[in-house]
Amino acid sequence: MSNTAAGAQTIKSSDEYIAKANIKDLSIYKEAAADPVAYWEKCAERLDWFDKWHTALDWNPPFAKWFIGGKLNASYNCLDRHIKNGLGSKTAIYWEAESGEGKEISYGEVYKAVNKFANAIKKLGAKKGDRVAIYMPMVPEAAYAMLACARIGAIHSVVFGGFSSDSLRDRIQDASCNLLITADGGYRRGKTIALKEIADKALEECPTINNVIVVERSKDAINFKKGRDHWYHDLIADVDDFCEPEPMDAEDMLFILYTSGTTGKPKGIMHTTGGYMTGAVTTTKLVFDLKNDDIFWCTADVGWITGHSYIVYGPMANAATQVMYEGTPDFPAKDRFWKIVEKYKVSVFYTAPTAVRAFMKWGADLPAGCDLSSLRLLGSVGEPINPEAWLWYGEHIGKNKCPIVDTWWQTETGGVMISAIPSVIPAKPGSATKPLPGIDAKVLDETGNEIKEGTGTLSITSPWPSMLRGIWGDEKRFKDVYWSKWDQKYFPGDGARLDEDGYFWLLGRIDDVMLISGHNIGTAEVESALVDHKSVAESAVVGIKDDLTGQAIAAFVILKDGSTPSDELNKELSDHVAGKIGKIAKPKKIIFTADLPKTRSGKIMRRLLRDIGEGRALGDVTTLADASVVEKLKATYSEE
Ligand code: WTA
Repeated sequence: MSNTAAGAQTIKSSDEYIAKANIKDLSIYKEAAADPVAYWEKCAERLDWFDKWHTALDWNPPFAKWFIGGKLNASYNCLDRHIKNGLGSKTAIYWEAESGEGKEISYGEVYKAVNKFANAIKKLGAKKGDRVAIYMPMVPEAAYAMLACARIGAIHSVVFGGFSSDSLRDRIQDASCNLLITADGGYRRGKTIALKEIADKALEECPTINNVIVVERSKDAINFKKGRDHWYHDLIADVDDFCEPEPMDAEDMLFILYTSGTTGKPKGIMHTTGGYMTGAVTTTKLVFDLKNDDIFWCTADVGWITGHSYIVYGPMANAATQVMYEGTPDFPAKDRFWKIVEKYKVSVFYTAPTAVRAFMKWGADLPAGCDLSSLRLLGSVGEPINPEAWLWYGEHIGKNKCPIVDTWWQTETGGVMISAIPSVIPAKPGSATKPLPGIDAKVLDETGNEIKEGTGTLSITSPWPSMLRGIWGDEKRFKDVYWSKWDQKYFPGDGARLDEDGYFWLLGRIDDVMLISGHNIGTAEVESALVDHKSVAESAVVGIKDDLTGQAIAAFVILKDGSTPSDELNKELSDHVAGKIGKIAKPKKIIFTADLPKTRSGKIMRRLLRDIGEGRALGDVTTLADASVVEKLKATYSEE
């Protein structure tokens, strides 16, 4: 992201915002810097522990253990303690169905539902340490399922409901899940998506799954496999409404969440109970300046880390009231989000830059037609937000009175790492500003030396509680991917620039991971989906700039002899990728080519492909069928 003139300006939060903010000065930063471990211990006190830890941190790089000896339960922290504190009737979730129907669900009701769900999965034999796959639409039962697993100590692995059956199968297989929780179908733009049917196909190759729980949502006809499949409503009909929360060791795993890497195989990122929950409860409170009467709305799907940390665990551990929305921003019309803000009087709104750019495209009249006066703070996550989008968001949604928090973090970090606390850190549009208290972020050069001002690679140089504890089943990959670039310093894979005021400007991924609408997709994943097609001999995939989605996928494809380029084949390949991975991985451009530009050592010259994909090298190309064209192009590029 370039530092445009707009991006260089500094914007202070309004006096009104600052006057009411939880954090009034920089003392929290000083306290954390003076003794980070003591600071994190204080943060951990935001949770209720059955037993207190005896050792705050054991750092044996790259392996960290936090709050050793401590015992707690995530579901207890999100529910039981609030009930005990008299918050049983407080609204936990305003659930908005895509159809416009709504449901107001109190903490007491969530508590009861989660207890019953926990007893239901126990009845099916699920126990501590088991892996449970969750493949759900955005319905409250998705959150109940996660909390029910947490309650009994089973490790959930949520798979985004837009992923294909192959993607679901791979994730179930990798973690050897024995239970799947899904729904008959989910709604998207007025149509239903046959989740159960997709899951059934995945399960043909998942012998470890013994039981499937099906939540009824779409009421579409589904196949029911006797003995394996169970309706959720039948299971919970005759179970007790209390289930003892399992006392979990701080370092016991809470969940696995898969994220794309630079190989075709996604990485099962592991998070533990004590550290992750400490990060989630703390960052939600700090970054979003959360108050008791806030109506919080994070527009992410529970299938991503943002949904884990800022729909389920962070807000609920803070006893927040939140909105959960089932559908898309453009259904039935493109002002749906603003209608929801108006309806529920949302005060804190957290979304993605790709959504903001779509709102910009749809026009300022739409938000202007709704009452957005309840909003007091806006957030952004998933990719760098360009200053233009930042300013539009502040003006047309925030009405120039809401600060914007641009929050940088990852599946691997568990919670927000770099973000303003806007009452004390002024914004610069396009910059995520500064690391949160207790987070040691630096910009390093290739050899690991710190760059005080300038461009390099982002690193987190001290352990933090919600850091990933590993990649499921692959310790070597964990070490290679995150810890081999420099000694004992975490490598997130992002470029960054540090400006003269110590502000961080995130520059996007520097590895072969693309950010499509803020979602990680590995180039290798798309390449292997393409070569899986019978007509494809070889392929190379790059992320190209896109005004709306940040990056879009451009695929260069060499066809097998006997296959010829055509519009039909183009579409077929695109659908094939969607079928293998999910619609989010559909290439925007497929370019048939006779040859791929490679260096002498055989590495694909991705920079050249990006230049072609973005129209710089050849103008509007749809085919590079003549091999000599590629040869000539190569000659004008230096070897990378
Ligand atoms: C990118 C999402 C710039 C970054 C929470 C990171 C961002 C990847 C920002 C992680 C931001 C996320 N500014 N880039 N505010 N937030 N990213 O695992 O490249 O889905 O490494 O986690 O998104 O994506 P993930």
